[in-house]
Formats: sequence, structure tokens, C-alpha cells
Amino acid sequence: MQNILITGGAGYIGSHTVVALHEAGFRPVIIDNLSNSDARVLDGIAHITGTRPSFYRGDCRDIDLLRKIFTQEDIAGVIHFAAYKAVGESVQEPLKYYDNNINALLRVLIASQEHSAGQEHVFPFIFSSSATVYGEADTMPLTEETPRKPATNPYGNTKAIAEDILHDVVHAQRRANASLYATPLHAIALRYFNPIGAHPSAAIGENPHGRPENLVPYLVQAASGRREPLTIYGNDYPTPDGTGVRDYIHVVDLAEAHVAAMQYAFAQTDAPRFDIFNIGTGRGTSVKELIATFEEVTGVNVPHTIGARRPGDVAVCYADTTKAADILGWRARCSIADALRDAWVWEQRQHTTS
Ligand code: NAD
Ligand code: WQD
Repeated sequence: MQNILITGGAGYIGSHTVVALHEAGFRPVIIDNLSNSDARVLDGIAHITGTRPSFYRGDCRDIDLLRKIFTQEDIAGVIHFAAYKAVGESVQEPLKYYDNNINALLRVLIASQEHSAGQEHVFPFIFSSSATVYGEADTMPLTEETPRKPATNPYGNTKAIAEDILHDVVHAQRRANASLYATPLHAIALRYFNPIGAHPSAAIGENPHGRPENLVPYLVQAASGRREPLTIYGNDYPTPDGTGVRDYIHVVDLAEAHVAAMQYAFAQTDAPRFDIFNIGTGRGTSVKELIATFEEVTGVNVPHTIGARRPGDVAVCYADTTKAADILGWRARCSIADALRDAWVWEQRQHTTS
């Protein structure tokens, strides 16, 4: 059984991935400083899997702690989720974002290199990137070959910089495979589109601190009456109904993509290498369509108003997922209706138990 370090494993996507890895026969080891999560998520994971994962409360910028975990747990691969992710906050506090998102990546990479140096088997390093790196693209759907555009906010820039760091580290290793850094690293950046939903058990889900910025967490709170009506940010986009179009992916499908990427990396023999995959459904859904689907599957009305466009938003963003299907053998299976139903059940559970 391979031990996989999951940084940020107490968070939204990390916790679902811990479950998926466990179900696939890996042994997940979590490091999380709980800056945007709660230790109760470990109970949720244990409820689903029957096993409480190994958990270290600490910061990924603490290289000594990382070294201790790598040795103690004999880590065979890493999935690096730990980062701050609020776009608006990153504009207000760029240093906070560059410090955490870049320095955590660097420390985890250094510890991974030190630990795997000289090993004969591949060391997978999977990184959470984002469709935000494409910016306002000229063509849809987005393929991995679609040129990246300069980021419009510091959060997005940390993802672009992180991809560049992975590229440089891997290519330096390919050139000089005799140094300490001659590690069998297989770096994979997964560019997530819009993750939504919760585990169907409602034992884990998204738990944003404060007022949610993202559509679905805000929508479910507005539907339950915990928030003011949802504001649709613009109905004058060049889309069929005028509202923004995104590629919403169930978080359980997204978690499965990490398992597929991990299995793929372990099966390779030509590390070091760096691969990039879009992780979406390939389908675009407008804000109005999403509200209508939510109302249909839950029978609950979503109070909403039309407001101005949100600065920095693009009109349309959805993935071409051919590469992930062809190479990883992965594709999304759940519908938007499944995801919205699960998000609603999770919201109600929070509401009645908090
Ligand atoms: P999340 O905030 O729920 O999870 C991140 C976890 O990392 C949290 O539990 C937090 O406590 C932890 N963390 C943050 N900094 C840390 C540090 N220095 N040391 C240890 N732990 C730390 O976010 P999420 O939605 O699960 O996102 C996971 C990753 O996916 C992030 O890198 C995010 O940028 C990326 N991503 C998210 C989305 C999305 O819409 N949710 C989309 C694209 C990419
Ligand atoms: C979706 C659609 C909004 C809220 C963001 C980040 C991106 C990635 C995912 C991490 C858009 C509309 C939203 C609301 C609305 N995160 N909307 N009212 O903007 O596609 O992506 O999260 O990497 O980097 O930018 O997601 O959920 O915020 O918005 O009308 O209250 O919903 O305009 O069309 P977005 P979102």
C-alpha cells in the first residue's frame, strides 16, 4: 500500500480526494494547518471510509515538519492542494497569497526531491492548478494547448507561477540527472474547472468561511435563507441567455481524477516529466440554467436578482477533456443535477447540525 501525502487534505477537494484514494487502495496522509477547514472533516472521512486518516496539523511552509512526515510515513507520492483560493482577497492581500501559495509549493517540492532522490521508482507530484490560467481565451472549448493569458489577479498568478516552477524543476532534472535533484519526479498539473457538490453521504462537503464568493455555495445558502438573495453577476454576456457559462464538475468526479493521475504517474517509466490535464466535464452551463436545475431537483426556490458584471469574470469557460480521457482514462460521470442535489443535502445538514 503506497502512502500519499495530501497537503490541504482537510479542505474541500482534498477531503474528497482522501476518500477516493483510500477507496482505490492508497493510504492517504494529511497535512493541513486548518486555516480554511475544520478537524471535524476527519470524522466525516472516517464515517465514509471506516478509517481515520493519518493527520498532521501543521503548515506546508515548515520544511522540518515536512521532512519528518516524509520519513516517518515513507511517502511515495504527493498531491499538493494546500493554498489560499479567494480571488477577491488575493487582490486585497497579494503578499499573503504569494507567500502561502508559492512558498508552500516550494517547500513541499524540496522535501519531495530530497525524499525521492536516488529512488528507482517514479515519484508522482500532483498539483492543483486552475482553468483561471487560461484567462479570457479566444476560442472554446479550452484545450491544454490553448495559450495561457496573463492572470487578472494574484491568486490566478500563483497558479501560473506554480506551473512554471514545476516545468522548470522537471526540465532541470531531465538535463542533469546525476545531482541530488536527479529525482524520478512526475509532476502533473490538473487544471480544475468549477468544482461543485459534496459527497453523496453528506459526511463531507464545502464549508467556506464567511460569505461565499463562488456561485453554488452562495446559492445554497441563499436558498436556505441564510443569505440575502443571490445576485446574478450580469445578464448581458454574449451567451444564449446572457448569463456567464462555466464547466461545473462534481467534486467526487474531480477527486477520482486525482486517483487516475496518481495511477498513471506510477505506471510511467520515463520520469522526470511534467504533464498538464484539464479536469472538467466538457459541458458549459449558464447561471440561469444552473438555478433552474437546482430548483427542479430540489423543489426549492432560489431568490435572486440581476446585478452588474463582476470585474474579472469571463463570459464563457469550458473544457475540452479529450486529453484526460485518452491518457488518464478518466471522465466525469456525475450530472450537474447530481452535484446540486448533493450540495443541497450537505447545506441542509450543516444548517440543522451547526
Ligand atoms: P480549501 O480551502 O477547502 O482547501 C485548502 C486546504 O489547504 C484548507 O484545508 C487549508 O486549511 C489548507 N491550507 C492552506 N494553506 C496551507 C498551508 N500553508 N499549510 C497547510 N495547509 C494549508 O480549497 P479547495 O477548494 O479544496 O482547493 C484546493 C486546491 O485546489 C487549492 O490549491 C485551490 O487553489 C485549487 N483550486 C480550487 C478550485 C475551487 O473552485 N475550489 C478551483 C481550481 C483550483
Ligand atoms: C461562476 C459563475 C459568475 C457568484 C472562480 C475562480 C477560479 C476558480 C473557480 C480557483 C460566474 C456567477 C457567481 C454569484 C454569480 N477557483 N456568479 N453570482 O468565477 O468561474 O471561478 O472559482 O481556482 O479561479 O475565479 O466561479 O463560482 O465564482 O462563478 O452570478 O454570487 O457564477 O459571474 O459566471 P468562477 P464562481
